[in-house]
Amino acid sequence: MIDPRPQLDGISMYSPGKPIEEVKREKGLTKIYKMASNENPFGCSPLVEEAIKNEMIEMTRYPETTSPALAAKLAQRLRLKADQLIFGNGSDEIIRLLTRSYINHGDEVVMARVTFPRYQTNVLIEGGVPVQVDMTNGCHDLDGMLAAITNKTKMVFVCNPNNPTGTIVERQALLNFIEQVPSHILLVIDEAYFEYADSDEYLDTRPLLPQYENMVILRTFSKVYGLAALRIGYGMMDREIVHQLQKVKDPFNVNRLASAAAYASLDDESFLEETIAKNREGRNFLLRNFEEMNLYYFQTQTNFIMVDVNRPAKEVYESLLEEGIIVRPGHLMGYPEMIRVTIGQQEENAAFIQKLQAILNRPASNLQNH
Ligand SMILES: Cc1ncc(COP(=O)(O)O)c(C=O)c1O
Repeated sequence: MIDPRPQLDGISMYSPGKPIEEVKREKGLTKIYKMASNENPFGCSPLVEEAIKNEMIEMTRYPETTSPALAAKLAQRLRLKADQLIFGNGSDEIIRLLTRSYINHGDEVVMARVTFPRYQTNVLIEGGVPVQVDMTNGCHDLDGMLAAITNKTKMVFVCNPNNPTGTIVERQALLNFIEQVPSHILLVIDEAYFEYADSDEYLDTRPLLPQYENMVILRTFSKVYGLAALRIGYGMMDREIVHQLQKVKDPFNVNRLASAAAYASLDDESFLEETIAKNREGRNFLLRNFEEMNLYYFQTQTNFIMVDVNRPAKEVYESLLEEGIIVRPGHLMGYPEMIRVTIGQQEENAAFIQKLQAILNRPASNLQNH
């Protein structure tokens, strides 16, 4: 056997939400509700289909390496220069490009516990040291994170809104934090769920970019734009950081169909507005029901909710799976009695509540026997 790099010891494979196809096969069910991976249950803009059809003609040609047409259009929207943007095979890839480009063996990277797991994994792959700072009530403890900065700290991640808890950091607290993170430390703010956040306390960090050359903002087309399968996300940052990441990225990391789809999706404001409105309705419906059921939940600003089911999460997750409903059990994320549910279409939300009520009405030890 050939020894892999020792950094890979103890790293486990990413455990994604269970795919629909797998549950159909395993459970012999035909109707499955996937409420596990924070995808867009309302599809994507019809303009995307058209754009993909047109782009198919060019299928035999490699894409351009930096998606320049998309970069120009998005830059204009964001009031940035195109060279301040980089696209990735999902924002997942940009996280990896950042750690690949900046993390040396032994460098410390401060992040919340519990947050998006790819930060930790990518830091470990590079031989860096993830420094996890416990959250308070599902929210980033920004003071704690500042206190965790040492002379070995190279990078800090703030996931805002945070996955898996859905919470945001409040405007003034985040401003103070950004101000206090030393300028030689890369501050990565992951805004994968930016478009869903509607609280007055939510800070759009993009206008701050010119002021903070050490700040990187990540966003994605996988969530509100509904393009998760195509894999395209982007980062906004100082052009010097983009330049470094370009050296590390694969030349054709974003495929033609993804770039064309993302380009087209930017023209459909009404699709975004509808998604956001329906998500809000679904959120209100679920939260109302959780309150009636006396279930505690974290304050969410996203398309998912982390709710306390007062039972072992694994059991509730498995019981829901028997009914064809896929959620994410919290025990895998450090919340042994919580589940994370993605807000779905109304039919899915109603089915989820009905099944959850039935499951929680059973005696605890009996959960899986039905
Ligand atoms: C907080 C956060 N960041 C990044 C990602 C990665 O998204 P993608 O690679 O699909 O752009 C996700 C996906 O769930 C996420 O929740």
